[in-house]
Amino acid sequence: MPSNSTDPGRLSEALPAQNKIYDTAAGALWHLAVYGPVHEGREFTNMAGAALLDSIGTEFRLGAGHRVLELCSGTGEVCRYLAGRFDCQITGIELNASQLEHARTKHRQLPASVQKRVRYLRGDVNTWMPDRSYDLVVAVDSLALMNDPGDALAVAHAALRPGGHLVFADILTGRELSDRVRGTAWEYDGIRPLPQPADTAELLSHLGFVDIVHTDISTAAVDCFRIISGALTVRQRAIQDVCTPEEYAHWCESTEFYLDSFVRRELSYGRFTARRPAQDDS
Ligand SMILES: C[S@@+](CC[C@H](N)C(=O)[O-])C[C@H]1O[C@@H](n2cnc3c(N)ncnc32)[C@H](O)[C@@H]1O
Repeated sequence: MPSNSTDPGRLSEALPAQNKIYDTAAGALWHLAVYGPVHEGREFTNMAGAALLDSIGTEFRLGAGHRVLELCSGTGEVCRYLAGRFDCQITGIELNASQLEHARTKHRQLPASVQKRVRYLRGDVNTWMPDRSYDLVVAVDSLALMNDPGDALAVAHAALRPGGHLVFADILTGRELSDRVRGTAWEYDGIRPLPQPADTAELLSHLGFVDIVHTDISTAAVDCFRIISGALTVRQRAIQDVCTPEEYAHWCESTEFYLDSFVRRELSYGRFTARRPAQDDS
């Protein structure tokens, strides 16, 4: 049964050890290696960044009065961006306490007109009980962190008004995913790639979604890791000033791992849209 539990002890137990990496996701290392070079300084902890969010805003004609829910809101940048650019109201759900604290700090710095349309709540997206209905649910680079993406997708379905849309981007199982790549993605980041596109579409259909559309956006993942790889070289000195030699070595190793896995399409990056049927759908 979904719940709105805010018991911090219970909530932090729900995160695997690998989620610790997000404790520092607002720090200097991420800015130097990711946010600056990949996202023009915006704190998107994802691969697709503003291009994805702009496409969502355009496709769903986001505007004033629209209610949006972001599952796994991290630093809060996706919420800040969508609210600032498209005038919508947005709620971000995040489990990691450091991320949430950072998002709330940045929230206080927003212009009042945007601030009042953004809120962040602590919750586990696998069990969260929606407090209202939403026009659009968004999840970026998050579902592959779940034990079972079906739980969070069921929460998304419950949160949507009839006729409302879901859109997510995430890492999927590629053509021939080896045990080595699967095991390494889990070991590094607690990532369990979603099933191949047809099977993910079937899961969505099983949960009651219709109008399911998958778009392969793997080139965005390749571009992202190429840029990070370049930044780790070009900005090596500055980055090494803000991390340990072990951390730097790990960033280099994991960046090459993901770059290679996406180039060879053992991993793919996909954008899905789906709709909760309207009451009058035949
Ligand atoms: C890769 S980050 C993406 C953050 C944000 N969506 C973005 O695009 O910038 C994934 C986020 O999911 C959060 N997360 C992981 N498991 C969660 C759960 N069960 N409930 C809520 N948040 C979770 C992590 O703490 C992390 O902040």
